[in-house]
Amino acid sequence: MSDRELINIALGAMKNAYSPYSRFKVGAALLCADGSVYTGCNVENASFGATNCAERTAVFKAVSEGKRDFKVIAVVGGKDGSVGSYCPPCGVCRQVMSEFARKDFRVLLFDGENVKEHTLAELLPLGFSGENVK
Ligand code: THU
Repeated sequence: MSDRELINIALGAMKNAYSPYSRFKVGAALLCADGSVYTGCNVENASFGATNCAERTAVFKAVSEGKRDFKVIAVVGGKDGSVGSYCPPCGVCRQVMSEFARKDFRVLLFDGENVKEHTLAELLPLGFSGENVK
């Protein structure tokens, strides 16, 4: 699966976003080590804090299906689904991804034209981990 293919899957998932309050649509596609892909979109709620982001939707879907070994996630988003700038994962999603991310886990962002790639170490320096709970 190429990076561009994964981004296209995220663009497709974005169409399912339920975001009547912000009108901001986000899509994510999570590639697992076994080659399977789990998609996610943001699901908003009238009680705004109950909203779930696209990235967490994808991770929770995958983990609930028994997958924990992730290679890369593609994230796209934009107002009314128009992708014109990068959509970096929020802090909570970075923390959730870090729970499962191996060292070489990649985060792909797409602005409609160019692809930008990050590691979680870049996105979440000094993150809280299971090591801290011991
Ligand atoms: N959102 C995501 O789905 N992922 C992020 O990482 C950032 C924000 C969603 C949440 C909300 O539905 C909308 O974007 C505006 O914040």
